[in-house]
Amino acid sequence: MKILAIESSCDETAASVVEDGRKVISSVIASQVEEHKLYGGVVPEIASRRHAEAIVPVVRQALDEAEVTLENINAIAVTYAPGLIGALLVGVNFAKGLSLSTGIPLVPTHHLRSHIASNYISNSELKPPFMCLVVSGGHSHIVMVEDYTKMKIIGRTRDDAAGEAFDKAARTMGMSYPGGIELDKVAENGDPFAFKLPRPVVHDAPYDFSFSGLKTAVINLIHNAAQKGEKLNKPDICASFRYAVVDCLSSNFLKAAKDYNVNKLVIAGGVSANSLLRSTLKNECGKLGYEFYMPDKSLCGDNAAMVGSQGYYEFLSGNVAGTDLNAYATMSIE
Ligand code: KG4
Ligand code: ZN
Repeated sequence: MKILAIESSCDETAASVVEDGRKVISSVIASQVEEHKLYGGVVPEIASRRHAEAIVPVVRQALDEAEVTLENINAIAVTYAPGLIGALLVGVNFAKGLSLSTGIPLVPTHHLRSHIASNYISNSELKPPFMCLVVSGGHSHIVMVEDYTKMKIIGRTRDDAAGEAFDKAARTMGMSYPGGIELDKVAENGDPFAFKLPRPVVHDAPYDFSFSGLKTAVINLIHNAAQKGEKLNKPDICASFRYAVVDCLSSNFLKAAKDYNVNKLVIAGGVSANSLLRSTLKNECGKLGYEFYMPDKSLCGDNAAMVGSQGYYEFLSGNVAGTDLNAYATMSIE
Protein backbone atom coordinates (compact mmCIF):
# COMPACT_ATOMS: atom_id res chain seq x y z
CA MET A 1 0.00 0.00 0.00
CA LYS A 2 1.41 3.40 -1.03
CA ILE A 3 0.78 6.55 1.00
CA LEU A 4 1.37 10.12 -0.12
CA ALA A 5 2.29 12.02 3.05
CA ILE A 6 2.23 15.78 3.64
CA GLU A 7 3.84 17.74 6.51
CA SER A 8 3.55 21.50 7.13
CA SER A 9 3.34 21.91 10.93
CA CYS A 10 6.24 24.34 11.37
CA ASP A 11 8.89 25.62 8.96
CA GLU A 12 9.38 22.63 6.65
CA THR A 13 7.08 21.91 3.70
CA ALA A 14 7.52 18.20 3.08
CA ALA A 15 5.99 15.41 1.00
CA SER A 16 6.85 11.74 0.70
CA VAL A 17 5.70 8.47 -0.80
CA VAL A 18 5.97 5.56 1.65
CA GLU A 19 5.15 1.91 1.02
CA ASP A 20 3.56 -0.25 3.75
CA GLY A 21 4.64 2.13 6.50
CA ARG A 22 8.31 1.19 6.39
CA LYS A 23 9.80 1.76 2.91
CA VAL A 24 10.48 5.34 1.84
CA ILE A 25 10.20 5.67 -1.94
CA SER A 26 10.68 9.44 -2.06
CA SER A 27 11.06 12.22 0.50
CA VAL A 28 11.20 15.92 -0.34
CA ILE A 29 11.77 18.68 2.23
CA ALA A 30 11.67 22.42 1.46
CA SER A 31 13.08 24.19 4.51
CA GLN A 32 12.36 27.83 5.30
CA VAL A 33 14.95 28.00 8.05
CA GLU A 34 17.26 30.51 6.33
CA GLU A 35 14.44 33.06 6.19
CA HIS A 36 13.37 32.56 9.84
CA LYS A 37 17.02 32.86 10.97
CA LEU A 38 16.80 36.60 10.28
CA TYR A 39 14.22 36.90 13.08
CA GLY A 40 15.78 34.46 15.58
CA GLY A 41 12.82 32.06 15.39
CA VAL A 42 9.89 30.95 13.25
CA VAL A 43 7.56 33.78 12.20
CA PRO A 44 4.14 32.05 11.84
CA GLU A 45 2.77 34.39 9.16
CA ILE A 46 5.85 33.93 6.98
CA ALA A 47 5.74 30.15 7.53
CA SER A 48 2.13 29.93 6.28
CA ARG A 49 2.88 31.96 3.17
CA ARG A 50 5.96 29.89 2.28
CA HIS A 51 3.97 26.66 2.73
CA ALA A 52 1.31 28.01 0.36
CA GLU A 53 4.01 28.67 -2.27
CA ALA A 54 5.90 25.41 -1.79
CA ILE A 55 3.18 22.81 -1.31
CA VAL A 56 2.32 22.12 -4.96
CA PRO A 57 5.92 21.80 -6.27
CA VAL A 58 6.98 19.76 -3.23
CA VAL A 59 4.12 17.24 -3.63
CA ARG A 60 4.70 17.07 -7.38
CA GLN A 61 8.41 16.39 -6.82
CA ALA A 62 7.68 13.65 -4.26
CA LEU A 63 5.39 11.89 -6.79
CA ASP A 64 7.90 12.36 -9.65
CA GLU A 65 10.84 11.05 -7.63
CA ALA A 66 8.79 8.01 -6.60
CA GLU A 67 7.88 7.56 -10.30
CA VAL A 68 4.18 7.27 -9.45
CA THR A 69 1.02 9.22 -10.23
CA LEU A 70 -1.97 9.77 -7.94
CA GLU A 71 -3.52 6.65 -9.51
CA ASN A 72 -0.93 4.56 -7.66
CA ILE A 73 -1.62 6.23 -4.30
CA ASN A 74 -3.91 4.40 -1.83
CA ALA A 75 -4.17 7.04 0.91
CA ILE A 76 -3.14 10.63 1.65
CA ALA A 77 -1.74 11.18 5.16
CA VAL A 78 -1.46 14.72 6.46
CA THR A 79 -0.22 16.31 9.70
CA TYR A 80 -3.26 17.97 11.28
CA ALA A 81 -1.94 18.65 14.84
CA PRO A 82 -0.12 19.95 16.82
CA GLY A 83 1.78 22.90 15.31
CA LEU A 84 1.42 26.44 14.00
CA ILE A 85 -2.23 26.69 13.04
CA GLY A 86 -1.75 28.73 9.86
CA ALA A 87 1.01 26.39 8.74
CA LEU A 88 -1.01 23.23 9.46
CA LEU A 89 -4.03 24.58 7.59
CA VAL A 90 -2.05 24.84 4.35
CA GLY A 91 -1.20 21.12 4.40
CA VAL A 92 -4.63 20.04 5.65
CA ASN A 93 -6.56 22.05 3.06
CA PHE A 94 -4.30 20.93 0.25
CA ALA A 95 -4.70 17.28 1.28
CA LYS A 96 -8.48 17.70 1.56
CA GLY A 97 -8.68 19.17 -1.94
CA LEU A 98 -6.57 16.35 -3.34
CA SER A 99 -8.68 13.73 -1.56
CA LEU A 100 -11.94 15.32 -2.69
CA SER A 101 -10.88 15.53 -6.33
CA THR A 102 -9.45 12.00 -6.54
CA GLY A 103 -11.51 10.00 -4.04
CA ILE A 104 -8.31 8.85 -2.29
CA PRO A 105 -8.94 8.38 1.48
CA LEU A 106 -7.59 11.08 3.80
CA VAL A 107 -5.69 10.07 6.96
CA PRO A 108 -5.20 12.69 9.71
CA THR A 109 -1.86 12.16 11.45
CA HIS A 110 -0.54 13.52 14.77
CA HIS A 111 2.89 15.18 14.42
CA LEU A 112 4.46 13.62 17.54
CA ARG A 113 3.15 10.16 16.68
CA SER A 114 4.87 10.63 13.32
CA HIS A 115 8.16 11.50 15.04
CA ILE A 116 7.89 8.18 16.91
CA ALA A 117 7.17 6.41 13.59
CA SER A 118 10.46 7.66 12.10
CA ASN A 119 11.87 4.74 14.10
CA TYR A 120 9.82 2.20 12.11
CA ILE A 121 11.62 3.40 8.97
CA SER A 122 15.11 3.27 10.52
CA ASN A 123 14.59 0.04 12.48
CA SER A 124 12.65 -2.49 10.41
CA GLU A 125 12.34 -4.97 13.31
CA LEU A 126 10.87 -2.42 15.79
CA LYS A 127 7.30 -3.03 16.95
CA PRO A 128 5.29 -1.72 19.93
CA PRO A 129 5.05 -2.01 22.87
CA PHE A 130 7.97 0.23 23.91
CA MET A 131 8.66 3.41 25.85
CA CYS A 132 9.62 6.51 23.85
CA LEU A 133 11.30 9.78 24.77
CA VAL A 134 9.86 12.34 22.33
CA VAL A 135 11.94 15.51 22.37
CA SER A 136 11.39 18.30 19.86
CA GLY A 137 11.34 22.08 19.63
CA GLY A 138 7.85 22.26 21.14
CA HIS A 139 7.44 19.08 23.23
CA SER A 140 9.26 16.82 25.68
CA HIS A 141 7.33 13.68 26.60
CA ILE A 142 7.93 10.22 27.92
CA VAL A 143 5.31 8.10 26.17
CA MET A 144 4.30 4.48 26.59
CA VAL A 145 3.60 3.27 23.04
CA GLU A 146 1.25 0.38 23.76
CA ASP A 147 0.43 -0.11 20.09
CA TYR A 148 0.96 1.86 16.84
CA THR A 149 -2.03 4.07 17.59
CA LYS A 150 -2.41 3.63 21.35
CA MET A 151 -0.22 5.82 23.55
CA LYS A 152 -0.09 6.95 27.16
CA ILE A 153 1.87 9.93 28.46
CA ILE A 154 4.09 8.97 31.43
CA GLY A 155 5.94 12.28 31.83
CA ARG A 156 6.08 15.71 30.22
CA THR A 157 7.78 19.08 30.54
CA ARG A 158 6.19 21.58 32.90
CA ASP A 159 7.64 24.57 31.03
CA ASP A 160 10.14 24.73 28.14
CA ALA A 161 10.67 21.86 25.72
CA ALA A 162 14.22 20.47 25.53
CA GLY A 163 14.73 21.84 21.99
CA GLU A 164 13.46 25.26 23.05
CA ALA A 165 15.95 25.31 25.97
CA PHE A 166 18.80 24.34 23.63
CA ASP A 167 17.79 27.05 21.14
CA LYS A 168 17.48 29.79 23.78
CA ALA A 169 20.83 28.94 25.42
CA ALA A 170 22.45 28.88 21.97
CA ARG A 171 20.90 32.22 21.06
CA THR A 172 22.41 33.83 24.20
CA MET A 173 25.79 32.65 22.92
CA GLY A 174 25.17 34.33 19.56
CA MET A 175 24.30 31.20 17.57
CA SER A 176 21.65 31.52 14.88
CA TYR A 177 18.24 29.76 14.97
CA PRO A 178 17.79 26.85 15.56
CA GLY A 179 20.93 26.88 17.70
CA GLY A 180 20.52 23.39 19.24
CA ILE A 181 22.40 21.79 16.37
CA GLU A 182 25.38 24.19 16.57
CA LEU A 183 25.46 24.01 20.39
CA ASP A 184 25.73 20.23 20.11
CA LYS A 185 28.71 20.58 17.72
CA VAL A 186 30.54 23.20 19.81
CA ALA A 187 29.99 21.08 22.97
CA GLU A 188 32.13 18.31 21.46
CA ASN A 189 35.27 20.36 22.24
CA GLY A 190 34.27 21.41 25.77
CA ASP A 191 34.43 20.08 29.32
CA PRO A 192 30.96 19.01 30.58
CA PHE A 193 32.12 19.49 34.20
CA ALA A 194 33.50 23.05 33.73
CA PHE A 195 30.33 24.76 35.02
CA LYS A 196 27.98 23.45 37.70
CA LEU A 197 24.40 23.77 36.44
CA PRO A 198 21.21 22.73 38.26
CA ARG A 199 19.27 19.54 37.56
CA PRO A 200 15.69 20.74 38.22
CA VAL A 201 13.26 18.11 39.46
CA VAL A 202 9.47 18.31 39.66
CA HIS A 203 8.28 17.26 43.10
CA ASP A 204 5.70 14.47 43.22
CA ALA A 205 6.12 13.89 39.47
CA PRO A 206 9.36 11.93 39.01
CA TYR A 207 9.04 11.55 35.23
CA ASP A 208 8.22 15.20 34.47
CA PHE A 209 10.83 17.68 33.26
CA SER A 210 11.48 21.35 33.91
CA PHE A 211 14.00 23.14 31.72
CA SER A 212 13.23 26.82 32.30
CA GLY A 213 15.34 27.05 35.50
CA LEU A 214 18.26 25.37 33.79
CA LYS A 215 17.94 27.68 30.79
CA THR A 216 17.81 30.76 33.07
CA ALA A 217 20.87 29.51 35.01
CA VAL A 218 23.00 29.31 31.87
CA ILE A 219 21.71 32.65 30.55
CA ASN A 220 22.54 34.32 33.91
CA LEU A 221 25.99 32.75 33.89
CA ILE A 222 26.69 34.24 30.45
CA HIS A 223 25.19 37.69 31.25
CA ASN A 224 27.00 38.00 34.63
CA ALA A 225 30.34 37.17 33.03
CA ALA A 226 29.68 39.71 30.25
CA GLN A 227 28.87 42.44 32.82
CA LYS A 228 32.16 41.78 34.61
CA GLY A 229 34.02 41.77 31.32
CA GLU A 230 35.02 38.13 31.82
CA LYS A 231 35.36 35.85 28.81
CA LEU A 232 33.88 32.40 29.31
CA ASN A 233 35.01 29.39 27.33
CA LYS A 234 32.14 28.77 24.88
CA PRO A 235 32.76 25.04 24.28
CA ASP A 236 32.81 24.53 28.08
CA ILE A 237 29.43 26.29 28.54
CA CYS A 238 27.92 24.33 25.64
CA ALA A 239 29.26 21.03 27.01
CA SER A 240 28.07 21.75 30.57
CA PHE A 241 24.60 22.79 29.37
CA ARG A 242 24.25 19.83 27.01
CA TYR A 243 25.33 17.46 29.78
CA ALA A 244 22.75 18.96 32.18
CA VAL A 245 19.85 18.65 29.68
CA VAL A 246 20.83 15.12 28.65
CA ASP A 247 21.27 14.12 32.30
CA CYS A 248 17.69 15.28 33.11
CA LEU A 249 16.23 13.59 30.03
CA SER A 250 18.04 10.28 30.37
CA SER A 251 17.70 9.88 34.14
CA ASN A 252 13.90 10.42 34.13
CA PHE A 253 13.51 8.20 31.07
CA LEU A 254 15.53 5.35 32.59
CA LYS A 255 13.69 5.72 35.89
CA ALA A 256 10.33 5.47 34.10
CA ALA A 257 11.49 2.39 32.18
CA LYS A 258 12.59 0.70 35.42
CA ASP A 259 9.42 1.57 37.34
CA TYR A 260 7.14 0.48 34.48
CA ASN A 261 9.21 -2.64 33.86
CA VAL A 262 9.87 -1.83 30.21
CA ASN A 263 13.11 -2.91 28.54
CA LYS A 264 12.61 -1.60 25.01
CA LEU A 265 13.46 2.11 24.72
CA VAL A 266 13.18 4.48 21.76
CA ILE A 267 13.95 8.17 21.16
CA ALA A 268 12.36 10.53 18.63
CA GLY A 269 12.02 14.21 17.61
CA GLY A 270 14.51 16.89 16.57
CA VAL A 271 16.51 16.66 19.81
CA SER A 272 16.98 12.90 19.31
CA ALA A 273 19.73 13.98 16.84
CA ASN A 274 21.76 15.20 19.84
CA SER A 275 25.01 13.24 19.90
CA LEU A 276 25.32 13.08 23.70
CA LEU A 277 21.70 11.96 24.17
CA ARG A 278 22.20 9.21 21.57
CA SER A 279 25.49 7.94 23.03
CA THR A 280 24.37 8.21 26.69
CA LEU A 281 21.17 6.21 26.18
CA LYS A 282 22.90 3.69 23.91
CA ASN A 283 25.54 3.03 26.58
CA GLU A 284 23.12 2.96 29.52
CA CYS A 285 20.69 0.64 27.72
CA GLY A 286 23.64 -1.59 26.77
CA LYS A 287 24.68 -1.84 30.42
CA LEU A 288 21.12 -2.61 31.55
CA GLY A 289 20.52 -5.17 28.80
CA TYR A 290 17.68 -3.09 27.29
CA GLU A 291 16.90 -2.88 23.58
CA PHE A 292 17.49 0.68 22.33
CA TYR A 293 16.35 2.26 19.06
CA MET A 294 16.80 5.69 17.50
CA PRO A 295 15.94 7.22 14.11
CA ASP A 296 18.66 7.91 11.50
CA LYS A 297 19.83 11.48 12.03
CA SER A 298 18.25 12.42 8.67
CA LEU A 299 14.80 11.45 10.04
CA CYS A 300 15.02 13.23 13.43
CA GLY A 301 13.90 16.65 12.18
CA ASP A 302 10.55 17.36 10.52
CA ASN A 303 9.92 15.34 7.36
CA ALA A 304 6.99 13.69 5.59
CA ALA A 305 8.39 10.14 5.44
CA MET A 306 7.58 9.72 9.14
CA VAL A 307 4.02 10.96 8.41
CA GLY A 308 3.72 8.27 5.72
CA SER A 309 4.83 5.66 8.22
CA GLN A 310 2.44 6.67 11.01
CA GLY A 311 -0.31 7.36 8.45
CA TYR A 312 -0.12 3.72 7.35
CA TYR A 313 -0.82 2.46 10.89
CA GLU A 314 -3.53 5.10 11.42
CA PHE A 315 -5.21 3.94 8.19
CA LEU A 316 -5.04 0.28 9.26
CA SER A 317 -6.71 1.21 12.55
CA GLY A 318 -9.57 2.89 10.65
CA ASN A 319 -8.55 6.50 11.16
CA VAL A 320 -9.93 8.10 7.99
CA ALA A 321 -11.24 11.69 7.91
CA GLY A 322 -14.07 13.33 6.01
CA THR A 323 -13.91 16.66 4.22
CA ASP A 324 -14.75 18.44 7.48
CA LEU A 325 -11.21 17.70 8.78
CA ASN A 326 -9.76 20.67 10.68
CA ALA A 327 -6.25 21.49 11.97
CA TYR A 328 -5.45 21.95 15.68
CA ALA A 329 -2.58 23.90 17.24
CA THR A 330 -2.60 21.65 20.30
CA MET A 331 -3.68 18.05 20.71
CA SER A 332 -2.60 15.32 23.10
CA ILE A 333 -0.63 12.41 21.62
CA GLU A 334 -3.02 10.09 23.45
O1 KG4 B 1 11.17 17.91 15.83
P1 KG4 B 1 11.71 19.20 15.33
O2 KG4 B 1 12.44 19.18 14.02
O3 KG4 B 1 10.59 20.26 15.23
C1 KG4 B 1 9.53 20.30 16.12
O4 KG4 B 1 8.58 19.49 15.95
O5 KG4 B 1 9.63 21.10 17.07
O6 KG4 B 1 12.68 19.74 16.48
C2 KG4 B 1 13.42 20.90 16.32
C3 KG4 B 1 14.28 21.10 17.54
C4 KG4 B 1 14.97 22.47 17.57
O7 KG4 B 1 14.75 23.05 18.83
C5 KG4 B 1 16.43 22.12 17.34
O8 KG4 B 1 17.35 23.02 17.91
C6 KG4 B 1 16.51 20.78 18.01
O9 KG4 B 1 15.32 20.13 17.63
N1 KG4 B 1 17.71 20.02 17.58
C7 KG4 B 1 18.73 19.71 18.40
C8 KG4 B 1 19.68 19.02 17.63
N2 KG4 B 1 19.19 18.93 16.34
C9 KG4 B 1 17.97 19.56 16.35
N3 KG4 B 1 18.91 19.96 19.72
C10 KG4 B 1 20.05 19.51 20.27
N4 KG4 B 1 21.01 18.85 19.59
C11 KG4 B 1 20.87 18.58 18.27
N5 KG4 B 1 21.82 17.92 17.60
ZN1 ZN C 1 8.66 18.01 14.77
